[in-house]
Amino acid sequence: APDISVENVQQHLKELDAVAQANGGNRAHGEPGYKASIDYVKGKLDEAGFETSVQEFDKGGATGYNLIAEWPGGSADDVLMAGAHLDSVSDGAGINDNASGSAGLLEVALAVAAGDLQPSKHLRFAWWGAEELGLVGSNHYVSSLDDAELGKIGGYLNFDMIGSPNPGYFVYNEDPELEKVFTDWFAQKQIETEPATETDGRSDHASFQDAGVKVGGLFTGAGETMTEEQAGKWNGTAGEAFDKCYHSACDGTDNINADALDANSDAIAHAIWELSS
Ligand code: PHE
Ligand code: CA
Ligand code: ZN
Ligand code: ZN
Ligand code: ZN
Repeated sequence: APDISVENVQQHLKELDAVAQANGGNRAHGEPGYKASIDYVKGKLDEAGFETSVQEFDKGGATGYNLIAEWPGGSADDVLMAGAHLDSVSDGAGINDNASGSAGLLEVALAVAAGDLQPSKHLRFAWWGAEELGLVGSNHYVSSLDDAELGKIGGYLNFDMIGSPNPGYFVYNEDPELEKVFTDWFAQKQIETEPATETDGRSDHASFQDAGVKVGGLFTGAGETMTEEQAGKWNGTAGEAFDKCYHSACDGTDNINADALDANSDAIAHAIWELSS
């Protein structure tokens, strides 16, 4: 898999932050900053040769949007999916939560195109709306599939918060094979990981898991406090939150640890390459 440029990922964060600043300071469901975020990501993917579609849904009287991007080719009966929620809370720009996962995944998708990857599986990327209102977009998408379409999805990888300022390195442990592709990569980089337990049911992977799809993913921590033991292995700050700006106005471009963003983006690429081959 290619080494993903963290500078490129950070550039997407800057652009998504600018989108928030131009639209009242957030990228929340029902607000103009959300649709502008969709337009930004879609524009990059269209330019790179993805087949994109925007799925609309209603939540609370406002239109929500999921962005789906298909990489042409691969076995239509064997689909690998990866997704990230693109909406923020209304209190801020949502740069760690979850421009980080959205941008890391976007840069990996652009690397798939740049490398003209021809995997044996079909690759489908998704950016979800209204996660912050209860996994609404991803639930809508899963509900829109019939059993046959659902059965073709061999795995779903979720990326929600991958650049926390006081980062932990958490790997979803719902499925052993999907967990191992990530833990192998971190082990090779000599970065210790822990199974993600705080994530259970709390992000878009739950929509897929509830429908019987195997799930995996990465997480660098939200409002929980880092322990002494964790601070030792990750060279972090014990007694402080992984993300002290979680769901707050200060979740801007300064609220990102670049090393965590880099490592997790590279790990996403590794997993996509390994699992789709
Ligand atoms: N989904 C939560 C949020 O967006 C945080 C979270 C991220 C929880 C990843 C679990 C896993 O606020
Ligand atoms: Ca990198
Ligand atoms: Zn959130
Ligand atoms: Zn989130
Ligand atoms: Zn690799």
